[in-house]
Formats: sequence, C-alpha cells, structure tokens
Amino acid sequence: MSSTYMPWAKLRSHARFNLATSGVAHWKLRDLPLSLDDLEISGPSFYGYEPLQKALAEHAGVSADRIVAAGGTSMANYLALAVLLKPGDEVLIEHPVYELVSAAAKYIGASIRRFPRTHESGFALDPVAIRREVTAKTTLIVVTNLHNPSSALTGEATIRAIGEIGPRVLVDEVYLDAAFERAPRSAALMGDQFVVTSSLTKVYGLSGLRCGWIVAEPKLAEAMWRLNDLFGVIPAHLAERASVTALAHLPEIARTVHARLDRNRTLLHRFFDSRAELDVRREPYGTVAFPKLLRGSVDRMCALLREKYETTVVPGGHFEMPDHFRIGIGGETEMLEEGLRRLGLALDDMMDRT
Ligand SMILES: Cc1ncc(COP(=O)(O)O)c(C=O)c1O
Repeated sequence: MSSTYMPWAKLRSHARFNLATSGVAHWKLRDLPLSLDDLEISGPSFYGYEPLQKALAEHAGVSADRIVAAGGTSMANYLALAVLLKPGDEVLIEHPVYELVSAAAKYIGASIRRFPRTHESGFALDPVAIRREVTAKTTLIVVTNLHNPSSALTGEATIRAIGEIGPRVLVDEVYLDAAFERAPRSAALMGDQFVVTSSLTKVYGLSGLRCGWIVAEPKLAEAMWRLNDLFGVIPAHLAERASVTALAHLPEIARTVHARLDRNRTLLHRFFDSRAELDVRREPYGTVAFPKLLRGSVDRMCALLREKYETTVVPGGHFEMPDHFRIGIGGETEMLEEGLRRLGLALDDMMDRT
C-alpha cells in the first residue's frame, strides 16, 4: 500500500522553475524572532505541549480539549480517518482529490465512494451530488476547502448543507487561510458533525515544523491522541517550541504571503488571458490553479516543459484528471514569472505539433 503521487512529488517535481508545489515559499528560520533560549530539546509534552495547545486553540477559535496536535495535515488526516472509519465502513471522497487522503482511507480498509466536483462548475461542492452517493453504510464525507487542486472556495452555507446530510464530515482546511479576508469561518465552528484538519505548512511556508492539528469534539480528540500513541508518541520538542513562536507571529507572516500571492495571481491570470488552449476559472484566492488543456496531451506537455524548459507543474493524472495540470503560485515572484514564460513556450511547441 503506497502513494503514487508522493514519490513523484519528492523525487520528480523539482526543477529550476518549480511550479509544482502547492505551498508558499519556505519561511526562513532567521526570519522568525527566535533565540536559542526559546528552544529546548526535551520538555513537558505528553498529550500536547501546553503552550502549543493554547496557541493552536486560539488560532482555531476553540477550546484546547478539541485540539489534537499532529505531524502536519498528513498525520492529522490519517489520525482523523483512522478514528472515524472502521474497516468496511463507507467513506465518500471528492473527485478530484489530493491522493494521500484517499490512499489513507484505503489503507484503513474503508470502502471508497466518490462524488464529483466538475470542471464545468468550477469544482464547486454540490450537496445534492454528495447526498446522491450516500448509502446506509456511509459513515464519513471528506472534502478539502480550499479545494486542492483547483483552489475553489466553499462558503459556509454549503459546508453547513453538507453537514446536514447525515454522516460526519472531515474538512481538510490546510489551504483555507490562503483566502485571507475572504475566508469563511472554519467548519470546526459549525458543529460537532465536523472534524477539521490543518497545519502551518502550505499558507505560511512552515512545512519543516510539521505543525499540524485536528479540531474535533473532545471525546473524538481523546481517541485521536490515544491512536497517536501507536505512531509518533510525542513530536520533536524543538519543533513544538518553534511552532509556538511562529503562531505568535502568524499575522506578519500572513501579510508577506498575502502580498506575494496577490502579485503572483495577477501574473497567473494575465498568463491565462493569453492562452486560448487553456480553460480555467480565475479564482481570487489560493496557492494553486488547475487549468484544462483543450488540445494535446498534458503528459507530453509536462515532459517537454521539464526537459526543454527546466520547469515543472503537476500532471493532472495525479488527481485522476489527465487533461488538466496544476500550477502552484506560492513561490518567489521572479521564479513564477519566468516559469510561466517557459510554460507558454512549451504550450507553443505543443500547439505547433497538433
Ligand atoms: C489537501 C492537502 N492536505 C494535506 C496536505 C499535507 O499537508 P502537510 O504538509 O501539512 O502534511 C496536502 C499537501 O499537499 C494537501 O494538499
């Protein structure tokens, strides 16, 4: 049991002009106001490190007994799925999906059903389409907000409507803060039928801290802590301490990221305006876009882009949509600008051939 996307992301996605990542450029340690005195190798971390629990609870707007700290959204998703699903349970998962979510559910032994987020609808979540797939065995619905790969945002009314269908709902909100002032309230504040996962990875460029969390009602949260005893037991305390400092400075980090994403999005939309062979909705938020290539093979275009133009994007096959590809705009502006120029050259080459 393994992922096909992750080895590609770790070993094949790197390039001089890397538009394959979904997160923003890495924040540097030297840019955090952190001194050695703030750090310690070991400390009082049992079922959470209290200062971090408090900071995460404040960030999420809930009490600390609803927070489970986890190694990134990845481990948060796994712990949440493993507590919410038993082997044989049915889980409804969006299509297209971030592959690791469905791979984890499969590993747990759940039976997976899908519901569509269609290109034509701008990858909107449709509660009617979800309800249509629910059966007597469905115990969980899984969605991302913002959606990976499209960055489609789901508003509060739709999230509530999905919560009213019946089964519990796991909402992966790792990209939600990339909507900044347009972000709706977290689903974690809409009732106990929602379980939410997130981290400081994608929007804040702090992936290496592995600061992830789950928000769930206290009884479920306790079960997730207990399950985590079988895996990580406790996190690296240095990272817990650094995460407390990072959370205290999140507004400054967010301002820098917001300004860069706005600049980069303008470049991206200008690029889309110049490319008739791409069909894509211009989203006003998010770190990624998921255009459809109207002519030619995405896989061939990606190979050409990588080999001839030293640039990468994610082939849509990794999201079960082989006529799409994902562009990440969280990197440095100069890199994105040149990467888009090179993407344009690769598309020109492709159009000459078709
Ligand atoms: C929807 C989604 N959830 C979770 C993750 C993993 O996040 P983390 O780095 O916090 O483990 C990703 C990474 O791309 C993602 O796209």
